[in-house]
Amino acid sequence: MANNHYQTLNQAKLHWDESQRPISQAFDDVYFSKASGLDETRYVFLQHNGLPERWQKTTFIHRPFVIAETGFGTGLNFLCTWQAFIQHAPEDARLHFVSVEKFPLNINDLEQSLALWPELKPLADQLIAAYPLPIPGFHRRHFDQGRVQLTLIQGDASECFSSLESRVDAWFLDGFAPAKNPDMWTPELFQSIRRLSDKGTTVATFTAAGIVRNGLKAAGFEVKKVKGFGHKRHMVCGELILDAEGQAVQTVNPAPDVVPVEPLPLAKPWMKTPWFKPPCTVNHSNKQHIAIIGAGIAGTTTAQALARHGFNITLIEQHDQAGKEGSGNRQGVLYIKLGTEPSSHSRFYLSGFEFSRHYFNNLQKQLSRTDFKELIWQACGVLQLAYTEKEVKRQKRFIERNNFPDMLLKAVTAEQASELSGTPLQQSGLWFPQAGWARPDIICQQLSQHSNIKRVTGQFVDKLQPADSGWSLLDKDGKTLLKADQVIIACAASTKHFAQTAWLPTKAIRGQTTYLQTTAQTPELKTVVCHEGYIAPALDNTLCLGASFNLKDDEKELRESDQQHNLNLLSEAMPTFAGQLNHSGVDTGTLSGKVGFRCASPDYVPLTGPAPVYKEMLERFALLRHDATKVPDAAPAYYPGLWLNTGHGSRGLASAPLCAEVLAAYIAEQPMPLERELVNALQPSRFIIRGLIRDKL
Ligand SMILES: Cc1cc2nc3c(=O)[nH]c(=O)nc-3n(C[C@H](O)[C@H](O)[C@H](O)COP(=O)(O)OP(=O)(O)OC[C@H]3O[C@@H](n4cnc5c(N)ncnc54)[C@H](O)[C@@H]3O)c2cc1C
Ligand SMILES: C[S@@+](CC[C@H](N)C(=O)[O-])C[C@H]1O[C@@H](n2cnc3c(N)ncnc32)[C@H](O)[C@@H]1O
Repeated sequence: MANNHYQTLNQAKLHWDESQRPISQAFDDVYFSKASGLDETRYVFLQHNGLPERWQKTTFIHRPFVIAETGFGTGLNFLCTWQAFIQHAPEDARLHFVSVEKFPLNINDLEQSLALWPELKPLADQLIAAYPLPIPGFHRRHFDQGRVQLTLIQGDASECFSSLESRVDAWFLDGFAPAKNPDMWTPELFQSIRRLSDKGTTVATFTAAGIVRNGLKAAGFEVKKVKGFGHKRHMVCGELILDAEGQAVQTVNPAPDVVPVEPLPLAKPWMKTPWFKPPCTVNHSNKQHIAIIGAGIAGTTTAQALARHGFNITLIEQHDQAGKEGSGNRQGVLYIKLGTEPSSHSRFYLSGFEFSRHYFNNLQKQLSRTDFKELIWQACGVLQLAYTEKEVKRQKRFIERNNFPDMLLKAVTAEQASELSGTPLQQSGLWFPQAGWARPDIICQQLSQHSNIKRVTGQFVDKLQPADSGWSLLDKDGKTLLKADQVIIACAASTKHFAQTAWLPTKAIRGQTTYLQTTAQTPELKTVVCHEGYIAPALDNTLCLGASFNLKDDEKELRESDQQHNLNLLSEAMPTFAGQLNHSGVDTGTLSGKVGFRCASPDYVPLTGPAPVYKEMLERFALLRHDATKVPDAAPAYYPGLWLNTGHGSRGLASAPLCAEVLAAYIAEQPMPLERELVNALQPSRFIIRGLIRDKL
């Protein structure tokens, strides 16, 4: 990204007509028909895309039916589609709705608009609860246990669709009328529509304006002008018809007054970075068997994401239970540290944080409907103290340069920080009101439970061997533990144990947390406080503080010096609170805690994606060693059906759930939950390419 500020969004400014329908002030246009918004959506977008009939096809049991929309607005089209899908689609069919919105409604206006449709209330309430903050970029949400998914992308339609990777089955071209909003209907938008469409993709739009018909025709669609909704004379619908070579064909005459148009050249975004081109899907069936090695937060979130898509998962773990290693802490903090400038690292973690907090909210809600009553997540807020002069300056610069919504983060004085946390603090800081702490161990155990997930515990996978059309997983004696069509390696630092992935530049970093029992005199801490270490509010009369950070250290037992280190960090950052704990005379040898190993990558971004064949990649892209400006005309080499999800470092709670979605998007043929640039930033092969460019490999 050329811009060195995080992008911001302008929210929609509305006024309301005599029937309380929203009107855009900027565009002076309606969000839906004055006659009936519901009937308009059903007529224009559903009926003219052949819905709900097309949902009956078995193809959409193997992969989700993907709808893409320009202009999410009030979400009416999404809610109507979701309602029709529940009513008419087969039970095992899945829907994925992608929508781009440049001027999102604020939450109050959204609620007021959706109150117009009482029949949609049960769905509208779920959308309102899941509605993203006004932060640009991709926001993925799950509804109905993941049967219906929404990817709401906040930003400009042309820009956002050009960075989306997906296959779209039907387009809802909404957006204000071209006469009032010509900027949206760009050639780049139509080029993306062509790139994301395939044989049989349909399109429907409320408008019959020439710019739209010509754009669609140039994108290869066969376009028809038909009767519009209500008082409107015409609207347009169409279909992409491809010949055996994948070339668009117009089988009937287009709408009579369409002028001849030049076909748009096909967009080929992978030309600039061919080394990141994703592999072709191994097999178009979700009945495949996928083995996942490692039942930490990375493995269990991935198992859930794929199980929801109907895959048969075997989750294989060396311990007797999930969540015993890095993810075995009593309390982990969902937090992020954003750079002053929007690097890929910061943009990825911002997306991951936003996704995770909705994910944990949902999980807590789902569990509360069962017999399971434990707290697994508490959004108590996180304070990031400016604990050194350098950090004070960094936070000041960060706040001055950027403009984030207060609901995401804001600067607070020492007095405000003290008020929020319930304990006197001497430093100013950043306040993340929606952040909090989670119980990673219990979350892993809960996520491993699904009818499509088989748990195999107490088994260490020693080797991976290609077999038939998939992989054999062998133990130390060379005995086959199981065979699977595809394998996902999610075993943190031990990923390097396998011959195929031994080249990975990851490091294990030892960490130790300290548990302190509270007494009746212990002051109540209301928020998580992060400094050089961190402390979370007490859970079951125990405070969890952490954490030490040691490279090249494989000691698995608790160490007194590390307990002391954690206590010292607390005393330095929060002297009043630490003083009230009365731990100064405590024998650190009697304290409990937990040792774990983080798996960090050189750029502190996870490694999620297809497993490259190291030697082959070096050969295919060798040209980069001599001249990094020359893009070799080569395809990347991947082990078929072998994937990685590791390198979650110190922030697995913010990164793992979203990375699981990325893997599910590769494997289950659904839209990516992140823009292409960030999906590439996660690709394990980036280290091979960087090494070649720097001539280090
Ligand atoms: C002390 C400490 C404090 C932390 N605090 C936070 C925090 O506050 N917030 C935060 O977001 N993150 C925190 N982290 C980081 C976070 O815990 C990790 O990012 C996260 O746990 C990584 O999850 P994972 O699934 O990749 O790895 P793990 O949880 O380590 O899971 C890997 C699993 O693979 C299994 N396995 C390994 N090899 C094999 C094999 N060959 N066969 C079978 N099974 C195998 C292991 O037994 C393990 O269960 C902390 C880490 C530590 C160590
Ligand atoms: C008619 S409304 C859409 C109504 C919506 N589909 C619904 O169900 O409520 C048009 C929407 O397009 C959005 N929009 C306008 N220009 C845009 C652009 N360039 N990129 C993305 N969205 C845009 C507007 O902010 C507005 O929300």
